[in-house]
Amino acid sequence: MTETTPQRTASRADAAPAHAAPARRVDDATVEQAVRRALELAALGPVTGGNPQVGCVLLDAEGRTVAEGWHHGAGTPHAEIDALSKLPVPHDARGLTAIVTLEPCNHTGRTGPCSEALIAAGVARVVYAVADPGANSSGGGARLREAGVEVDGGVLEAEAEFFLRRWLTAVRRGRPWVTVKWASTLDGRAAAADGTSQWITGPAARQRVHEQRSASDAILVGTGTVLADDPSLTARGDGGELLAAQPMPVVIGETAVPADAVLRSHPRGLIETGTRDLAAVLADLDARGLRRVYVEGGPTLASAIIAAGYADEYLVYLAPALLGGEKLALGDLGIRTIGEARRLRVTGVEQLGDDLLITAEPAEPAEPVDPAASAAPASTTAVSTTAASTTAVPSTEEN
Ligand SMILES: NC(=O)c1ccc[n+]([C@@H]2O[C@H](COP(=O)([O-])OP(=O)(O)OC[C@H]3O[C@@H](n4cnc5c(N)ncnc54)[C@H](OP(=O)(O)O)[C@@H]3O)[C@@H](O)[C@H]2O)c1
Repeated sequence: MTETTPQRTASRADAAPAHAAPARRVDDATVEQAVRRALELAALGPVTGGNPQVGCVLLDAEGRTVAEGWHHGAGTPHAEIDALSKLPVPHDARGLTAIVTLEPCNHTGRTGPCSEALIAAGVARVVYAVADPGANSSGGGARLREAGVEVDGGVLEAEAEFFLRRWLTAVRRGRPWVTVKWASTLDGRAAAADGTSQWITGPAARQRVHEQRSASDAILVGTGTVLADDPSLTARGDGGELLAAQPMPVVIGETAVPADAVLRSHPRGLIETGTRDLAAVLADLDARGLRRVYVEGGPTLASAIIAAGYADEYLVYLAPALLGGEKLALGDLGIRTIGEARRLRVTGVEQLGDDLLITAEPAEPAEPVDPAASAAPASTTAVSTTAASTTAVPSTEEN
């Protein structure tokens, strides 16, 4: 990707930006309205690709919007730079208030530090909602203050935290956000006695799964599912066409993927881990910038992920059918008594055709959040990638 940070001209650099407080301080209600607008702008950016969705609004002293921007994806200008480039005189923001959903970054990755760009543009005040938890990218607020810019953090923090929770969780824990999905009958069976499971649910539910695949960086399956179903794991539209965004398929387990597996012709290629070591696999995916993973089973892999405390979100498709028998959607979770049950909080119930989609999250995060984890080095466990496009997406720290 090309470096797209806008270049300032010599004359702009000479025009010493004034960081004096704005002539009139934008009032709190206007600032909050602008944060909400910045969150709407942030949502226009891609959900996949390793970088956070961020929006920015530039206000004049009267609280009027002068420019807006958002982050369009890894390797492209950050939201602040996008907004600065849209000013009547690009990158001349003297006296303006910058509203950003995430603390401006303070590091050079594929683009330059936003803190420096805001200082150079002459912004007088910066308001952000959520502090940047990145080990290398944080500190933008402090840098701005040091340069004489007025900085307010934590405005509408709860809303922005919720909006960014998948990315924030990934960065704070140093591993991807993990969504576990399965389809089962009402009696909790994921396959028939002969191992067949296509199709438990109807077309509307299956189409939703394709959309969810497309909104993920990677799809994880165990070797058992590959051998039983020979799945393609592509994200497809209702006409069977490939959707624009395809997740990277990842096969977990020690068994080799057969040479003639359909998965070998996936448009993103294939990551064959050759291991059952979930911590190593997740660390490796995080290092590749694969921050949202969608676990499609089967029961053994899903159970191992849940038992290890890695499941951040559950998507359970329930079909109005009964299969009975032993092919349960989940196996042993290491729970011996009812008091150890993993309690979930239902976040959504939706009917899709004849099926139900229940969305849930752990009632309590199963795994402690460790901010220091984002500074942990990437795993060195070898995972092989055979891919049409194996380009590793840099982690957020390098965006
Ligand atoms: N209804 C659904 O939503 C759904 C979804 C997917 C599959 N299925 C059905 O599920 C059945 C396959 O079930 P499955 O449980 O065998 O599939 P699986 O979970 O995909 O694969 C199990 C294998 O994964 C490997 N593995 C990787 N990490 C592991 C870990 N941490 N702990 C233990 N094993 C690990 C092991 O094989 P190695 O020896 O290679 O390490 C294990 O035998 C099929 O009938 C399929 O149709 C249903």
